[in-house]
Amino acid sequence: MKLARGVLIVFEGIDGTGKSTQCSLLANSLSEKQVPNIALAEPTRGTWGMKIRRLLSEGRQDITPQEELSWFVNDRKEDIETNILPALQKNKVVIMDRYYFSTAAYQGALGLDPNQIRLDNEKFAPIPDRVLIFLNSAEACLERIESSRDQKSAFENLDYLNKVQQIFKGFNGPNIRFIESVGSISDIHEKVLAEIDDLFDFN
Ligand code: ADP
Ligand code: TYD
Repeated sequence: MKLARGVLIVFEGIDGTGKSTQCSLLANSLSEKQVPNIALAEPTRGTWGMKIRRLLSEGRQDITPQEELSWFVNDRKEDIETNILPALQKNKVVIMDRYYFSTAAYQGALGLDPNQIRLDNEKFAPIPDRVLIFLNSAEACLERIESSRDQKSAFENLDYLNKVQQIFKGFNGPNIRFIESVGSISDIHEKVLAEIDDLFDFN
């Protein structure tokens, strides 16, 4: 199936809400329908992304919120040039596991202005056709993380994730949908499909 243009779908929410799981289910389901798609994730595995990963594993230490913000923004600028724009120009569905709403929420929770971060990103970043913001209690999310891996990152603590989720809940716009990420993985997949259905003409 050929699309008339590229479509950008973004998954957002705190750690452990099930975004990665649902991104790959959506990619599979589009591929089954022969819809060209690519699944991407931020932070990336590029130069800035790897610097960010060291911060996540080793902790923030003396880095300022502004510096931290600039690392995520630099990573995104690289991702847009290298991966996102080329895929959109090929009329693919680009599925993003995190984008600039994460920057507004996570770096906003450090005391920076979330709306200003969003506006600044929208000056250079393609605006998504749909943003699915996953919500679940931070306690449940941390439990999922603890039972799935040994190490938690420096960002994965209850107080911080609660602050971040409050900011996520405050976003609004015609492209934004909230998804309660409770229930089975397949139930949530159905909710995802229902929230993006209008972007495609599958009949
Ligand atoms: P995120 O990308 O938002 O951090 P993941 O998709 O990595 O979240 O999911 C975190 C953990 O929770 C994984 O171990 C995953 O298998 C599990 N998980 C995902 N969705 C559900 C669900 N609906 N119910 C229970 N566990 C889930
Ligand atoms: P995550 O999606 O968990 O990456 P991975 O599964 O590959 O480790 O993202 C890592 C962390 O980065 C997560 O706690 C959210 C945080 N983050 C920000 O603080 N700001 C941002 O702009 C982005 C994209 C992520």
